[in-house]
Amino acid sequence: MANATTQTSKREAFGSRNVFILSAIGSAVGLGNIWRFPYVAYEGGGGAFLIPYLCALLTAGIPLLFFDYAIGHRFRGSAPLAFRRMSRAAEPLGWWQVLICVVIATYYAVIIAWAAMYTWFSAQITWGKGNEQDYFFSDFLQMGDVSTGLSTEFVPQVGVPLIGVWLVVIIIMALGVKRGIGAANMILMPLLTLMFATLVVQSLFLPGAMDGLTAFFTPNWEALADPGVWASAYGHIFFSLSVAFGIMVTYSSYLKRKTDLTGSGMVVAFANSSFEILAGIGVFAALGFMAAAQGVEVSGVASSGIGLAFIAFPTIVSNAAGGPIIGVLFFGALVFAGVTSLVSVLEVVVAALQDKLGWGRVRTTLVVSIPVALISVAFFSTTTALAVLDTTDAFVNAFGIMAVALVAVVFVAWILHKLPVLRDHLNKRSSFRLGWIWMLLVGALAPVVLGYLLYNEIVAKAEAPYGDYPDWFLAIFGWGMVIALVVLAVLLTLLPWSSRSHAKRDPDYDEFLVEENYEPDAETGSIALPGETAKGARS
Ligand code: ALA
Repeated sequence: MANATTQTSKREAFGSRNVFILSAIGSAVGLGNIWRFPYVAYEGGGGAFLIPYLCALLTAGIPLLFFDYAIGHRFRGSAPLAFRRMSRAAEPLGWWQVLICVVIATYYAVIIAWAAMYTWFSAQITWGKGNEQDYFFSDFLQMGDVSTGLSTEFVPQVGVPLIGVWLVVIIIMALGVKRGIGAANMILMPLLTLMFATLVVQSLFLPGAMDGLTAFFTPNWEALADPGVWASAYGHIFFSLSVAFGIMVTYSSYLKRKTDLTGSGMVVAFANSSFEILAGIGVFAALGFMAAAQGVEVSGVASSGIGLAFIAFPTIVSNAAGGPIIGVLFFGALVFAGVTSLVSVLEVVVAALQDKLGWGRVRTTLVVSIPVALISVAFFSTTTALAVLDTTDAFVNAFGIMAVALVAVVFVAWILHKLPVLRDHLNKRSSFRLGWIWMLLVGALAPVVLGYLLYNEIVAKAEAPYGDYPDWFLAIFGWGMVIALVVLAVLLTLLPWSSRSHAKRDPDYDEFLVEENYEPDAETGSIALPGETAKGARS
């Protein structure tokens, strides 16, 4: 054992539990909270949406957050390594999550780049009053028609900031878990909270703000009878909490052994939801002002995602007193929230390759991030970027995140029967203990809900071409992309683990196994992964 310990380098770790909590909140609070939640909630019945939202949070979001924490912390590895340590057959699930993160990172970065440019534009209202929509689509994105084929025309005002975003993120990643990710979150998260709180207060003082809040909170109870509303609550919560795509598995693998996992998870989930509801208040107060200024109903100005951030908000900035400040706060908040989420998405990929290949931090960061950044720039700084973004986002959410979540819970609960091990692991070190209800939620309710959601998504996307995009386009960026992720995940599993990798040489993991009564190999001191011998990297 001593032999193994002296040969190994310890796994990186967050400086403290608080840094972990802040980083996990930094990952959860992202573009999803600020531009997605307000509209999903409004569409889903306003005040009444809180019911499906809280149900989704309590029955799926938080239980799966604990599930991810337990896997990452118990098996101390990036997603592929943690799943492999659980069972050899489970490794592809980890790679599937890694590849989902590659896709998300490529388009997530470009939205941050747009927001960075709009922070700057807000200061001088570059788009000009009354011209917000045309400015965004024609002048800024220079949007072209995808039906005639993919464009290779570079749009510099998007491409250059996008390269800037990648440089910043690569530097954070290269600095490592403690000095890079932990430190970035320690700086950016308090700033983000301050900026967002100021924005919300300023929005509340705009004329018409109360109409916006009335529209947002007035419950439409009939919406609760619509299964689609429940589906959107469950669909939203995974992306919002950053669960089921490897992030929380990876982050919790950097936690010290004696950490209160469930207590930390409750803090993260509560903070994420508070931020989301605060975003709803801020966004709808501002939309109330916009509706009053245009003499229309709030329903006439409320829009989702891109329309909300890059058309509605610039219109508010053009018209409100103190508009440029609102713009700088809003777009600056999007940039900070986006960067802290993007590093967590990319960390899933970097950590996985670091574990598999046994390379150092800087080398792995560069080898992983530069190709991902190049793909991102190649597809998302051209005139057809918006169509690619829209399609990959819709498909990777449905047939990536939701699909891998379904397969993971079924595999772990019903085939590997590991839920009791995970529950005991959480209970051994946590303030908030889990019992049979957690196992029921993860093992039974989550598969049923996810299966239902996935079925609906398949039917919807098979019946009508998504977004009316051409068939060849959906075949590549929609169906082709999600199928390719699964095939590549299997291929990556076939690559051997480096004999220098943490797979064999992580003293923290060895100690866990000793706790669980596994014996170290007398000769090498190393402890085998379940299903292999201690001597070779693979049996
Ligand atoms: N959880 C992150 C978001 O909400 C990915 O955007």
